[in-house]
Amino acid sequence: MNKIRASIKGIHGYVPDYVLTNSELEKMVDTNDEWITSRTGIKERRILKGEGVGTSYMAVKAVQGLLEKTNTDPAEIEMVICCTSTPDLVFPATANIVATQVGAVNAFGYDIQAACSGFLYGLTTGSQFIESGRLKKILVIGGDKMSSIIDYKDRATCIIFGDGAGAALLEADEEGNGLMDFWLRSDGSGEPHLHMVAGGSRKPASHETVELKQHYVYQDGKTVYKFAVTNMAHAAAQIMERNNLSGDDITYLVPHQANKRIVDATAKAMGVEDAKVLMNIERYGNTTNGTIPLLLWDFEKQLKKGDNLILAAFGGGFTWGAAYLKWAY
Ligand code: UT7
Repeated sequence: MNKIRASIKGIHGYVPDYVLTNSELEKMVDTNDEWITSRTGIKERRILKGEGVGTSYMAVKAVQGLLEKTNTDPAEIEMVICCTSTPDLVFPATANIVATQVGAVNAFGYDIQAACSGFLYGLTTGSQFIESGRLKKILVIGGDKMSSIIDYKDRATCIIFGDGAGAALLEADEEGNGLMDFWLRSDGSGEPHLHMVAGGSRKPASHETVELKQHYVYQDGKTVYKFAVTNMAHAAAQIMERNNLSGDDITYLVPHQANKRIVDATAKAMGVEDAKVLMNIERYGNTTNGTIPLLLWDFEKQLKKGDNLILAAFGGGFTWGAAYLKWAY
């Protein structure tokens, strides 16, 4: 009997309307378009404006579009995984909020917190439920409202991040396409280099934490950069070696959009030419859990059944990894 593989049968995304350009950032902090473009590749990012709207707002829009385009009845969805570092609330899970709002009344679900590698972790987690034969239809969402934890007076971080969400429908594949392999790792010693100090159980919110600006992202960019380049390339190399793939066999590299220079270095180490590297960082910046599903959504029309995709990510934790996916439609 053929192994059941989990495949992405549909992808959709949502980005807010408000465009925060490099020239607008020039008026907010001591930076300039040339620096941002040459160091990161980013030209603009989207920001979710309005009171009382969180990550679920964008996730619901992405899921509604996905259900409509795949002609899926929400009552058929059995599981919702929401990968996010900016949940609506500490609890309950954003996955539960989204499931109810889209009418997924027969689903259970939870959030995955693995920073920028979250969607990769969520995709591989959801796939196990499909491969085991236990579940038939799963939603995997990746999204973040990064603007809710960014200090727009800190030029080291505010130029990088943006808001957005994407969602994938996972189902079994009868034709041998889908998730072929994955290699994931984490290392908690990365915490000092990329974190948000307060708001968790170790340091709950207080007047002092607010005054000390401890509810914002702190990033030691240089250190994170070095780990990201080394580890994304290493993870991709593990996957390629185990599956006898050379750069020529890969149709597209689908990398987490952290920094164009990190992506270029990863592609070079893999022997993948520039034309095969999917990029949209120039328009959205780093949307953390949103980057990979938003990339697949942006390039969906270009993808063909049987294409060999390598997904790769690196993020806070540290967390990192790569997955080999054969596109299923
Ligand atoms: O997605 C999760 C994982 N995150 C990442 O993968 C991010 C990894 N890190 C990076 O992408 C890069 O380190 C950054 C884009 C964050 C920074 O680029 P960099 O080339 O590492 O710059 P740097 O931090 O070493 O700063 C170089 C110079 C410094 O000035 P001096 O000390 O050389 O005079 C900074 O103060 O650039 C200055 N600088 C800026 N200048 C203009 C830092 N931020 C800015 C800015 N505009 N926004």
